[in-house]
Amino acid sequence: MIPVVLSGGSGTRLWPYSRSQYPKQFLPLTSDMTMVQETVSRLDGIEELARPWVICNENHRFMVAEQLRACGHTPAGIILEPVGRNTAPAIALAALALIAKGDDSVMLILPADHVIEHEQVFHQAIAIAAQQAEAGKLVTFGVVPTAPETGYGYIKRSDSVTENVFGVQQFVEKPDAEVAQRYLDSGEYYWNSGMFMFKPTRYIEELEKFNPEMLAACKASLDNANIDLDFTRVNKESFEACPEDSIDYAVMEKTDSAVVVPLDAGWSDVGSWSALWDVSEKDEHGNTSKGDVLIHDSRNCYIQADKKLIATVGVDDMVIVDTDDSLMVASKDKVQEVKSIVKSLKSQS
Ligand code: GDD
Ligand code: MG
Repeated sequence: MIPVVLSGGSGTRLWPYSRSQYPKQFLPLTSDMTMVQETVSRLDGIEELARPWVICNENHRFMVAEQLRACGHTPAGIILEPVGRNTAPAIALAALALIAKGDDSVMLILPADHVIEHEQVFHQAIAIAAQQAEAGKLVTFGVVPTAPETGYGYIKRSDSVTENVFGVQQFVEKPDAEVAQRYLDSGEYYWNSGMFMFKPTRYIEELEKFNPEMLAACKASLDNANIDLDFTRVNKESFEACPEDSIDYAVMEKTDSAVVVPLDAGWSDVGSWSALWDVSEKDEHGNTSKGDVLIHDSRNCYIQADKKLIATVGVDDMVIVDTDDSLMVASKDKVQEVKSIVKSLKSQS
């Protein structure tokens, strides 16, 4: 089994801590390891695990290489994208690179920025998924939902295939709160974890069926790649011409071979400050504080200091994050909108 780590995101909803030069997967958000280090380290103990492959933006190549080496998981290969074209092409590049090496071992696709509390439960789900992937299925891990989250996609399951494996009826990307509540109540939906498992050749076969143009662009990007030690720098012109799409839309939603393996392991994609607060340690009033923080008469806040002391008096449900050059103060129930700040900053620069 080959771990394939997707590390191309920019983590804009965790601004101002997460930056385009230093996105959240390279930050120690929930432990003293960074998220990409956690991603590979939590696989320790799984049998017949090969060294990981990573797909990331060119700008992050040294950070990826150094962080993974530092935790004892030196990558077998690092594929560098000049631009982001979303997850479907990124995974295609990895699949094609493995096929070119004559390797059709099952790939375990892992976003670099997730938290999973119960590793053993995760390992069990991986073992179930591996059997399906070996048999040619395209497996997605469906997180048993605990709240009507609007920051996740949802997977509607169909009939049971075997124990702990279901067919897939539908993918729905980030529904509104009302729809999400309906999904939660029905008990038939999972959160789309963004983690997958399949053989490289099976993914490429399905991509060929549903998106031949994307596949052709990825092939051209690799055929004309520049290979330098462990780094495979894909061809800029070809990859820029590649259509953009997520694996969910480009393949998983369309294929007849999709199955979903439920996962109930304390998963979160820590996509926002409130999600980070959810998984962080709290004091008896529900406050998480990092750095030099003084809290008086405040509840359910996430407060992260950098160089200055942060003091709060009589505030509830706030997110306060200080960095070298920016201070953000937000209402905890509005933190999904932080990305609009990043957007307006980008348009000003
Ligand atoms: N290499 C590479 N290149 N990686 C990418 C790219 C890309 O162009 N685009 C995204 N990724 C990586 C990100 O780093 C992240 O780890 C993962 O793929 C998912 O991308 P996000 O941008 O974080 O997507 P999202 O969180 O808005 O939504 C997706 O993930 C949710 C679960 O975390 C969707 O699949 C949702 O349905 C899902 O619930
Ligand atoms: Mg995400």
